[in-house]
Amino acid sequence: MSATANLLTARIEVGDEGAELPLLRPTIGPAMVDLRRLYQDTGCYAYDPALHEIGVCRSGITFVDADEGILLYRGYPIDALVESCSYLEICWLLLNGELPTAAQLAGFTHDITHHTMVNEQLHAIYRGFRRDAHPMAVMCGVVGALAAFYHDGLDIFDPRHRLIASHRLVAKMPTIAAMAYKYAQGQPFIYPRNDLGYAENFLHMLFAVPCEPYHPPAAAVRALDALLIVQADHEQNASTSAMRQVGSTRANPYACTAAAIAALWGPLHGGANEGVLQTLAEIGTIDRIPEVLRRAKDKNNPYRLSGFGHPVYKSYDPRAKLLRRRCYEVLEALGQRDDPLLELAMELERIALEDEYFIERKLYPNVDFYSGIIFRALGLPPAMFTPVFAVARTVGWVAHWNEMMTDPETRLSRPRQLYCGPTERDLVPVTERVAHPPLVG
Ligand code: ACO
Repeated sequence: MSATANLLTARIEVGDEGAELPLLRPTIGPAMVDLRRLYQDTGCYAYDPALHEIGVCRSGITFVDADEGILLYRGYPIDALVESCSYLEICWLLLNGELPTAAQLAGFTHDITHHTMVNEQLHAIYRGFRRDAHPMAVMCGVVGALAAFYHDGLDIFDPRHRLIASHRLVAKMPTIAAMAYKYAQGQPFIYPRNDLGYAENFLHMLFAVPCEPYHPPAAAVRALDALLIVQADHEQNASTSAMRQVGSTRANPYACTAAAIAALWGPLHGGANEGVLQTLAEIGTIDRIPEVLRRAKDKNNPYRLSGFGHPVYKSYDPRAKLLRRRCYEVLEALGQRDDPLLELAMELERIALEDEYFIERKLYPNVDFYSGIIFRALGLPPAMFTPVFAVARTVGWVAHWNEMMTDPETRLSRPRQLYCGPTERDLVPVTERVAHPPLVG
């Protein structure tokens, strides 16, 4: 198959057959061949198992330039947003397309703040989990269970209903993540406080106990706010794609979010931040870095260096650059500047970036590489890193869900396959069958 493109169409040649297919132009970035008539015009489908070369929707939320390392939310560069905005301003921006006015921000803050409590009945669901359950497993279960509380009266085609569901998710997610942490610690759940900002309230629910006052350091609040902002959205990543895929069936949005949380948990996606800390702990001392790099480069070993490489960025992830700077500030402010893990991480990065294997494959630190060190400085155990990422990404998931629900091109998502199984054959009676090794197990 070959394709040539002029301004408006692309010519696709398949053997002797050819077709002129429309070319779609984005506001920034490369054009896309519209393949929706491919089968009709050529008798072929397109094959791309991980969808790395296929656009699956139009979106106006986030733009990533993989080669230049640029990330824009609704057109605004990520570093400018982190410098000047709060996480709730970013939530409004992602959901509504423009930065809020002071009045809009005040109204939105009020709405989010007044949705932070969860139904008291939900407490019983936590008690059904083992105390040592991974908090991401608990989050999948509890967020999915929200569908049981908000289903019958929910009309996903009513914009007002979608708005309330979006607010509920953004508001309740910190409460749900903090409850998962408290449950694992054997401590009482801490109720949200309406007089605190989003990040400060989250820290309060994570770290306060009923017997004494709790005041998080300003540096911790600032660091968490920055982490939430850089992780808020990243266009069609695996968890957002899960949200859209499940959402395309018109499923309940809380159930869609549980699917997105499950996708985020994987070590190749959001679970990598936990992996980074495990890797650093495993390395222990600088002299052992080459040994881990050898393992990561070994083609016969599925091990990968967590926090390195990205399906889209083939240059330094701009979020990792931002967090690298923040790392110093936070550790300094929290009196942890001498954290040996930071020195180890910097040395690992230096050695990896000089290694032929990493250079050839354009493997740079991603957002998860430095976020783990910041999470640790905030006092979170590794198992809580991905739940905090889930809190941050919820607004991205719901922004995409809302966009999808109003897009006239949205259809049930249903990919094709390249069938490689047997051709049609006759059934053999059970007494005449020969044993074959099972495919599973
Ligand atoms: N360590 C060692 N080798 C790696 C790594 C890594 N971290 N990442 C990629 N490679 C190698 C692959 O083995 C492959 O080598 P080959 O060409 O010799 O076969 C080559 O680099 C390309 O890798 P792919 O898997 O094809 O790249 P892809 O873009 O599909 O993968 C991914 C991206 C999954 C993120 C990968 O880089 C990875 O596994 N990284 C570690 C996990 C991680 O940090 N994930 C977080 C991503 S950011 C996020 O989701 C928030």
